[in-house]
Amino acid sequence: MAQRFPLLPFLVLCLCSSASIIGIAHQHEDSTTQTMEDFSGYPIHDQHSFIQNFASSSLSVDTESLQNQIDELATFSDTPAPSVTRILYTEKDVLARRYIKNLMGISGLFVREDAVGNIFGRWDGYEPNLPAVATGSHIDAIPYSGKYDGVVGVLGAIEAINSLKRSGFKPRRSLEIILFTSEEPTRFGISCLGSRLLAGSEVLLKALQTTVDGQNKSFLDAARAAGYAKDQDDLSSVFLRKGSYSAFVELHIEQGPILEEEGISIGIVTAIAAPASIKVEFEGNGGHAGAVLMPNRNDAGLAAAELALAVEKHVLESGSIDTVGTVGILELHPGAINSIPSKSHLEIDTRDIDEQRRNNVIEKIYQSAIKIEKDRGVRLSEFKIVNQDPPALSDKSITEAMEAASKELNLPHKLMISRAYHDSLFMARVSPMGMIFIPCYKGYSHKPEEYASHQDIANGVKVLALTLAKLSLN
Ligand code: GLV
Ligand code: MN
Ligand code: MN
Repeated sequence: MAQRFPLLPFLVLCLCSSASIIGIAHQHEDSTTQTMEDFSGYPIHDQHSFIQNFASSSLSVDTESLQNQIDELATFSDTPAPSVTRILYTEKDVLARRYIKNLMGISGLFVREDAVGNIFGRWDGYEPNLPAVATGSHIDAIPYSGKYDGVVGVLGAIEAINSLKRSGFKPRRSLEIILFTSEEPTRFGISCLGSRLLAGSEVLLKALQTTVDGQNKSFLDAARAAGYAKDQDDLSSVFLRKGSYSAFVELHIEQGPILEEEGISIGIVTAIAAPASIKVEFEGNGGHAGAVLMPNRNDAGLAAAELALAVEKHVLESGSIDTVGTVGILELHPGAINSIPSKSHLEIDTRDIDEQRRNNVIEKIYQSAIKIEKDRGVRLSEFKIVNQDPPALSDKSITEAMEAASKELNLPHKLMISRAYHDSLFMARVSPMGMIFIPCYKGYSHKPEEYASHQDIANGVKVLALTLAKLSLN
């Protein structure tokens, strides 16, 4: 018989532990007791039956409709299946958002949107004035990616709520699903745009007034075209009020191979690595590919190539397997075979679980860029650190709730760090945070082969549902 976490004594203990709320605690206890009995169908003194009933059998996941929804959402894409491309505020993004809002409505959630298009679906608890418990993720997809990144944490959250509703559960704290705007930096070069703003980033608030995309379309115009940012001066309304949430939990595919390789169903994230991104531009004189002799060139393309190799060198020099660096964008102007590049543009992503080590790499990349400028006679016209985010730690109370949920569901789990970044990185600034990982095929992500099995998704949804239930009763 698997060991079961004693949810009920835990809840009662929590409710009664604060001497200053003894009167209220009595009320809570009564209403909690009532709720327990309502959804369990068992009298609460029979704790074992109650826990067993709730965790093992009451929580059902409709895997078929969940998979159908994942497949249907994947059709809102600007590239052919099996790839998915869904870029912020494009027509496909707007249609996909509508699809999610509709599902939230069908689940009986109260739906609202903020000025940048973060979408919220709330299930009111029986103490609706308490800080809510939130969950969610993103549905934007980088070019030619897959259909599970982010999506499992949004559609899976809706199914988790459906599952709790089917079980008869009534939350004490409200449960809220958040669809975050633009976790991916594809269009405006800003990652976790929606969650960063929710977390109160004044820097981002200011930057959004002048941010443009690769086609020189402003963020504000693009947002307006999608039906958001109606009042240009109102983006600070997105900032979350302090204490809005008592907990935030994100369900996500691992995007790495560990869980699958080790045959473990659930990853419990303890920390999210520190990401940074940098934009660099070099300029040279350009010229005719035949007529300008080699000693007379200052080739902006070769400057970029040299910097890309320097990124790799500095990352490897850190000596840690946890330091990574990628030049994912490298563009040359004018982009003709018989013209020496007169401009180059690079975007560099570097990450580490150790913030200082990551910052040392950034400094070395900068020094290399200056040396290349000098050695090659090009101009370093831009070296911009777009973001240099610190890592985030999960909150112990949430990892414990996730572990307890995994145990009660008899699912093997392990503690792990997230090397990808997530909206949780920013939610951790305004709420205790935790993340649930599920295995994905060969760890593939950000490519069309991305896949998670029905069973793994169902396991993740159950752990999410039970975790939300526990946290909502806290
Ligand atoms: C998120 O998609 C990341 O790049 O980690
Ligand atoms: Mn992603
Ligand atoms: Mn993601």
